[in-house]
Amino acid sequence: MALRVGILGAGFIGRIHALNLRRDERVAVVGVADAVPEAAARLAAEVEATPLGGLDALLDLGVDAVYVTTPNTHHVEPVVRALEHGVHVFSEKPMATSLEGARAIRAAAGRARGIYQIGFNRRFADVYRFAKRFIDEGRLTPLAAQLKHNRGELQHPAWTADAGVTGGYLYETPVHLFDMTRFLFGDVAVIQGFARQAVYRELDDFAMVLACRGGVIATVTSVAHATWLFPSERVEVYGSHATVVTEELERAAFSPGPRDPAEGIDCAAMAFEHKWGYVMEDRLFVDAALGERPPAVTADDGYRATELVEASYRAARERRAITLPLPAPAGSG
Ligand SMILES: NC(=O)c1ccc[n+]([C@@H]2O[C@H](COP(=O)([O-])OP(=O)(O)OC[C@H]3O[C@@H](n4cnc5c(N)ncnc54)[C@H](O)[C@@H]3O)[C@@H](O)[C@H]2O)c1
Repeated sequence: MALRVGILGAGFIGRIHALNLRRDERVAVVGVADAVPEAAARLAAEVEATPLGGLDALLDLGVDAVYVTTPNTHHVEPVVRALEHGVHVFSEKPMATSLEGARAIRAAAGRARGIYQIGFNRRFADVYRFAKRFIDEGRLTPLAAQLKHNRGELQHPAWTADAGVTGGYLYETPVHLFDMTRFLFGDVAVIQGFARQAVYRELDDFAMVLACRGGVIATVTSVAHATWLFPSERVEVYGSHATVVTEELERAAFSPGPRDPAEGIDCAAMAFEHKWGYVMEDRLFVDAALGERPPAVTADDGYRATELVEASYRAARERRAITLPLPAPAGSG
């Protein structure tokens, strides 16, 4: 029998997941819920599902899994409730916009009958899989790295400029870089750096330095108001006379030595939803929901990325190095 999936949040990314899931013969997208009835109706019509108002209506429909694709500060409550109801949950990033929220989800996921997977899609994009392969195969032992991600603006969707909805700029796209640091180099021990409020009403320029437990030192930089002049996303990993570089999600190259030929991949012709890893993350989520494998990105991964965002804000505001893991918030279990 097909996995019955409901979508909560019928915007840009909810539509991408719904269309991917529609193409998976193991899945039936049965309901689409949104706070805005027209948004639910539009996507529901496109994927031939029932338009609904919210999570309760999806659960009443008897879904096996819920995709939470609402704006950032609207993830924790529906995720915890859906997990407690016993359904599988795919949540878009960020997991939460506070340590408390992330701990609540991690605890709920630990108790739940269903699985939880967080939408760090870049792990499944070909350029980053290319980079990771050389590290995993021992052809590049990372020593130092630079990770950059800029946003052209915080105007589309309009809520991206509202820290009350995003949880802060770092919870927008930069959170992917923090996850990428862990994905490529493992956990971070210390973080320090600078940030300034430049154009928007919050800290919107960041230059952070991360020291990983395994020894890699990495810079993570991000500017929220760069225009869309590319490259806006670039990762460079340096070993001993070996380097891998990714450019956007378009191209990647590996140089095994100063005088050796480089090898590379070009993803420019790939369909967007494949290039960005969305198709693979959705397939892996369905695999996990069907019990075929553990979740590809776990609640702990979501928690650690939240921790890196929170540590970055602390480091910038308090102008000091912050050691990880962060202590549990007062009063939490
Ligand atoms: N992984 C990625 O590459 C990626 C890309 C884009 C967005 N995202 C994340 O996905 C989430 C959604 O982003 P988007 O770009 O699709 O936003 P969007 O504004 O296009 O869509 C959000 C939808 O959620 C609805 N909504 C808002 N609050 C709601 C609530 N409480 N209950 C039900 N519906 C509600 C809105 O009406 C809207 O239709 C964000 O958390 C964002 O960070 C991730």
